[in-house]
Amino acid sequence: MKGTIPTVLLALLSGSSPSSAGPVQRRQETVTQTVTASGAPSTPTQWTWNAGGSQAWPIHESCNATERALLKKGLEDAAALAAHARDHVLRFGNGSAMYQKYFGAAASAEVVGWYDKIANGDRSRFKIRCDDVDGNCALPGWGGHWRGENATDETVICPLSYTTRKPLEGLCGYGYTVARSPLSFYFGADLVHRLLHMPSVGEGAAEHFADSYAECLELARAAPAEAVRNSHSLQYFALDVYAFDVAVPGEGCTGKAGKGEEEGKKEDGHGGHPAPTATTSGAPSTTSSAAAECHTHADGEVHCA
Ligand SMILES: *[C@@H]1O[C@H](CO)[C@@H](O)[C@H](O)[C@H]1NC(C)=O
Ligand SMILES: *[C@@H]1O[C@H](CO)[C@@H](O)[C@H](O)[C@H]1NC(C)=O
Ligand SMILES: *[C@@H]1O[C@H](CO)[C@@H](O)[C@H](O)[C@H]1NC(C)=O
Repeated sequence: MKGTIPTVLLALLSGSSPSSAGPVQRRQETVTQTVTASGAPSTPTQWTWNAGGSQAWPIHESCNATERALLKKGLEDAAALAAHARDHVLRFGNGSAMYQKYFGAAASAEVVGWYDKIANGDRSRFKIRCDDVDGNCALPGWGGHWRGENATDETVICPLSYTTRKPLEGLCGYGYTVARSPLSFYFGADLVHRLLHMPSVGEGAAEHFADSYAECLELARAAPAEAVRNSHSLQYFALDVYAFDVAVPGEGCTGKAGKGEEEGKKEDGHGGHPAPTATTSGAPSTTSSAAAECHTHADGEVHCA
């Protein structure tokens, strides 16, 4: 008996090594052929244009089984939100009232592009990790952070996210409204934002130009060219149309902006920007002055000066 185990192991090893060496060998042969046939190659060389690309979510080995499962679900929610937002714009273009509400008179192609990058873009150039490498997860309310100068293509998701962020299936539940609740309420919407911070996704162009719901609506009127690349506007629009078109069809849960919105902003716990804004401070943020110039109509729409 004792002698058979090493024999089996040897058999397994010898059985596996030629097969794993196979592709390498074949690739070397291909290279040799190409070099030899320095004129017109007689047989076409195999060319995989997207070699190295990946559609798998790049979840770092530091994530345990629980985190990995919840993160995968959250990222799939982010892709679902983005894909529907894209589809809504592809269907209605700039004629959609929802579109005009968040993006004003801007042409719709850039919006379609950001959402499609999240839904279908290559995922091989960024990573999402779970270890607290930069020590920011200890900061109160931080659900995660982009690693910035420490690793531009990496985002850390802190333990808080796994216990607080809601699944997309719960959209419009738990008393949530688009206008008043934090953008990080649903894991998917939170991750839309975090993905846009990855340079390979947001390209440094999708950024922060306005924060609160009221500020985003104001931006759509004042600077539509910025609204279409404002990460918060992209989150709000995706949530609002998914709620109206999919979650609670024909009804949604836009809600009304008001005092609660400011509460929501404080609870956001977004964290992770190079210069985090009023995440933990109770002091009124710059939002208040902008929000003060907006008023809510009887139909629940917020109109800003
Ligand atoms: C939407 O696009 C059309 C062109 O198809 C343009 O004439 C119109 O001004 C745009 N509407 C808005 C509200 O931006
Ligand atoms: C980068 O690392 C340093 C040192 O660990 C840390 O102080 C800083 O907060 C980190 N930056 C970010 C954006 O996390
Ligand atoms: C994974 O990590 C989380 C903290 O983010 C912890 O609560 C959970 O118990 C861990 N799961 C396993 C299976 O170790």
